[in-house]
Amino acid sequence: MSKILKTKVTEMLGIEYPIFQGCMQWIAKAELVAAVSEAGGMGILSSSTFSNKDDLRAEIKKIKALTSKPFAVNLTFFPSLTVQDHEGYINVCIEEGVTLMETAGRMPGDDVIKQIKEGGLIWMHKCTTLKHALKAQSMGCDLVVADGFECAGHPGEKDIGTMVLTALCVEKMHVPIVSAGGIGTGKQMAAALMLGADAVYMGTRFLLSKESPVMDSVKDFLAEKATEVDTALVMRPFVNSMRVYNSALVKDINAREKAGCKFDAIRDDVSGAHACKLFFETGDLDKDGVISYGQVGGLLDKVLPVKEIVDSMMADCEKALCRFDA
Ligand SMILES: Cc1cc2nc3c(=O)[nH]c(=O)nc-3n(C[C@H](O)[C@H](O)[C@H](O)COP(=O)(O)O)c2cc1C
Repeated sequence: MSKILKTKVTEMLGIEYPIFQGCMQWIAKAELVAAVSEAGGMGILSSSTFSNKDDLRAEIKKIKALTSKPFAVNLTFFPSLTVQDHEGYINVCIEEGVTLMETAGRMPGDDVIKQIKEGGLIWMHKCTTLKHALKAQSMGCDLVVADGFECAGHPGEKDIGTMVLTALCVEKMHVPIVSAGGIGTGKQMAAALMLGADAVYMGTRFLLSKESPVMDSVKDFLAEKATEVDTALVMRPFVNSMRVYNSALVKDINAREKAGCKFDAIRDDVSGAHACKLFFETGDLDKDGVISYGQVGGLLDKVLPVKEIVDSMMADCEKALCRFDA
């Protein structure tokens, strides 16, 4: 292991490299999660992909059959996601020896936090503002993901870029900070570490990996054609902004939003069902395309195996960190 890249996070989690694979509903399943952990990073399983705790347990067992290295499970608290049995899901994670529980969306209640902590799980919360990060820290969070505005998915409503959010969290907080949003290369990773972050966290980069279960045609199209200007926000008028690939369907949704439509007029289009259909059945980005996608897509031009992503990031990061050495 590189000496330079031993951080508070690698030490806390017993992992080789300070790289997280971001939670992605439908996509962050056993194969991807295990591949990232096996490559030396930290894979995060999306629990909202499973409709009950038995299916979640079966997927966790699949991960454990593929790797003996640490991995995490995400619980996302968004109004659009309907996982209700948080208690049951957390119990499964405790029983199966999961290392870390990531929460995202609204702050979990005291009961959830107590269960996570008393069950011996390390607790990480994903935040898009310093205010929420400080709140999570005050509630006993062990580490915080600072997810800047460039990110795929939900960037919050305050539009704080990763460069500022990461630096602010590092300056004002004592728990380790994991930098996220727009990161996809080793040079960016070096920048995050120089700001004081103890790890980086990537969704879009791992969406475009060989182990991501999305249809090859969709991944190849995004890698080859999507640039940094090809994302847009949906649901901003409903205070639930989501950064997605700017497809024909998204342009149409934005036009309806601009005209003042009610949420019901877009509900079906932004529901996960569309994304799921596109990822695994139709591959039709224009018809079904409301998929979370980040600005970093502009820096990515190839679908790569997870191990190659991790190894090349580490090599490029180390090189960048040594740039001014004599
Ligand atoms: C396809 C996709 C699905 C996502 N689903 C979730 C989710 O269910 N829960 C969550 O907390 N974040 C979700 N995210 C956001 C990521 O976990 C992460 O915060 C984000 O991708 C970081 O920005 P980046 O894409 O620029 O790396 C998703 C991202 C993508 C690309």
